[in-house]
Amino acid sequence: MVLGAADKTNVKGVFAKIGGQADEYGADALERMFATYPATKTYFPHFDLGKGSAQVKGHGKKVAGALAEAVNHIDDLAGALSKLSDLHAQKLRVDPVNFKLLGQCFLVAVATRNPGLLTPEVHASLDKFLCAVGTVLTAKYR
Ligand code: HEM
Repeated sequence: MVLGAADKTNVKGVFAKIGGQADEYGADALERMFATYPATKTYFPHFDLGKGSAQVKGHGKKVAGALAEAVNHIDDLAGALSKLSDLHAQKLRVDPVNFKLLGQCFLVAVATRNPGLLTPEVHASLDKFLCAVGTVLTAKYR
């Protein structure tokens, strides 16, 4: 999946819009993922996953920060996410299917807070971007 020039513009536009609240989107996406796909909780046995958990909020901030960093380096996702790719693929060994689930939940977090923002084109671009991030984070399994 290749991000074209229009996709990059669309993705940058979404992140410019959600800006300083990106942390909340990250936490919302995680909360949705744990509620909708409970098997994803197995990767976080050491976390309090209850509603309003400080750990989920803190982790949402980290995930959102990584996504924002990826947007800032949208032409070099592999470089920008290299360390995180080592972590997820070699240490955490998160099953790749879960990246799609978190990506879908992030899309929903954006959509519910910004009615009208996700036109079909912007939705498709953001989906491509999140899939590209997932591909990088799962590229180093061995
Ligand atoms: C840790 C980003 C998807 C499981 C992290 C960290 C970041 C991050 C920034 C913290 C790294 C550090 O502390 O140095 C992302 C991004 C994702 C993604 C951008 C996709 C968009 C997933 C998925 C799962 C997962 C789908 C599993 C369902 C974990 C776990 C940790 C972690 C278990 C360690 C948590 C801890 O003990 O603090 N991730 N992640 N990640 N991630 Fe991901």
